[in-house]
Amino acid sequence: MPLAKSAARSVTTIEGLGIDEDHLVQQAWIEEDVPQCGYCQPGMILSASSLLARSSAPTDEDINQALAGHICRCGTYPRIRRAIHRAAEAARNR
Ligand code: FES
Repeated sequence: MPLAKSAARSVTTIEGLGIDEDHLVQQAWIEEDVPQCGYCQPGMILSASSLLARSSAPTDEDINQALAGHICRCGTYPRIRRAIHRAAEAARNR
């Protein structure tokens, strides 16, 4: 999204998502050992967090659509999917 479209809107960056990696998505990422090189991970984590804010039980298709704008050259998609399901379950069990 162009920066101009974010005027007067709240923006969360990867640095602002969780303190000390305590966000549910960050915790799930660590538990599933998702990152490889790490290049794509901030975008993946933020898109996953946005998806979970809209859906408490996303399907694999929901996840695929939410991450459609991101490419992971390392092929971590299966671990990303597992981490999102894990974070969703943790959020439902809070
Ligand atoms: S972890 Fe390397 S590009 Fe995604």
